[in-house]
Amino acid sequence: MNIDIVSIVGARPQFIKAAAVSQAIAEHNRKSSDYPIAEKIVHTGQHYDRFMSSVFFEQLEIPKPDYNLRVGNGSHGKQTARMLEKIERILVTEAPACIIVYGDTNSTLSGALAAAKLHIPIAHVEAGLRSFNRRMPEEVNRVLTDRVSDILLCPTETAVENLVNEGISEGVYLVGDVMYDCLRRYAKKAKAIEQKTLEKLHLRSKSYYLATVHRAENTDNRNGLQDIFDALNQISSTERPVVLSLHPRTRQKITEGKVVPGDNIRIIPPVPYLEMMALEMNARAILTDSGGIQKEAYWFKVPCITLRNESEWTEIIDSGWNVLVGTNCKRIVQAVEQAESRPTWYENLLHGNGHSAKQICRILLESFGTIKKVTAEGEKTIQAETSPLRNE
Ligand code: UD1
Ligand code: UDP
Repeated sequence: MNIDIVSIVGARPQFIKAAAVSQAIAEHNRKSSDYPIAEKIVHTGQHYDRFMSSVFFEQLEIPKPDYNLRVGNGSHGKQTARMLEKIERILVTEAPACIIVYGDTNSTLSGALAAAKLHIPIAHVEAGLRSFNRRMPEEVNRVLTDRVSDILLCPTETAVENLVNEGISEGVYLVGDVMYDCLRRYAKKAKAIEQKTLEKLHLRSKSYYLATVHRAENTDNRNGLQDIFDALNQISSTERPVVLSLHPRTRQKITEGKVVPGDNIRIIPPVPYLEMMALEMNARAILTDSGGIQKEAYWFKVPCITLRNESEWTEIIDSGWNVLVGTNCKRIVQAVEQAESRPTWYENLLHGNGHSAKQICRILLESFGTIKKVTAEGEKTIQAETSPLRNE
């Protein structure tokens, strides 16, 4: 008997998270053909450029989406509504046992909302993260998605605590970080291309700073964004250049003449996952407002300077490996100088052992399927009893 699941993705970091889960599903199906999980993938089309989308499916061997909604750009309301309408139609047709949504984008919220109204159980990967800043569109998406989710798959203990503090304790699982699964799986491949990647950009290991900026709170704040660019321009030199992987949202601000990046910064288009891994592991320090990159910097033991006032990944801020500097030019420059003397000790304080996606599969099977259990009488196949969520 199949367990039918629909995964909903749409933006760059979701492809990476979904890759880990899809691979775990494929591994489960190879090992236990009796109880396969049949996954259908819906790509909302929120991100659509080749280097924001299809390149990740290719590199991370994600199955081709079964549906591509091609919703593209738009205001939050418009984008979310378009997705909602189209996802609803798919869920009615597919009638899955559950859907999986990832992270905190508009694609996440639309998927969750469509499923909730159809009484289809929702599993949320990266549940419980909070910045406590409701002006962030992502915070609104997270809070609402968690509210309607049935299975809340938390990456950290802090995330579990956040949910408990909001009165959500049922269906909460601490599974660790699926992005760490991905990093572990692909680190060797990234290592194999690191020389080529650095040479192509005329970079030497540990002699450049890597930067990314895309968060709406930064790109929509003209002065703040200009301050970030001024700092990056000031830090960047021939010996220690700043390489900025430019997100299309930020590119747009430059094209519109809202900000001027300065001549010292080496701007490159978004790069595929393996190239990004190679650039991260060889950077002297990373400056970013990305959620995923803060964690990758930590796992690669590269000092990170976060261009925000708060972070959802509080463990790494507390550890001293990551500092919050906001958009203040002076503070950014100072933080880069101080990054040279970061602590030499390292302890992985983030949760996860590279097998989080496998654990997620197990939870899905226990909740929606039939599982094999070893009992005193031997191996028995039983219908899962743990789930209060089964579709009647
Ligand atoms: C979205 C998520 C954010 C996540 C980020 C990952 C929301 C509210 N935001 O932000 O949480 O961190 O993705 O990268 O869901 N564009 C292109 N090509 C593309 C994609 C986008 O040119 O392939 C341009 C469009 O002009 C678009 C703008 O980038 O209007 C912003 O894209 P959008 O998906 O709305 O938000 P992101 O900033 O990417
Ligand atoms: N990333 C990438 N190429 C780039 C920039 C980022 O592959 O040019 C990867 C990065 O390594 C991380 C993920 O994209 O795995 C983070 O996505 P993003 O910063 O867009 O979103 P966020 O994590 O902030 O939601």
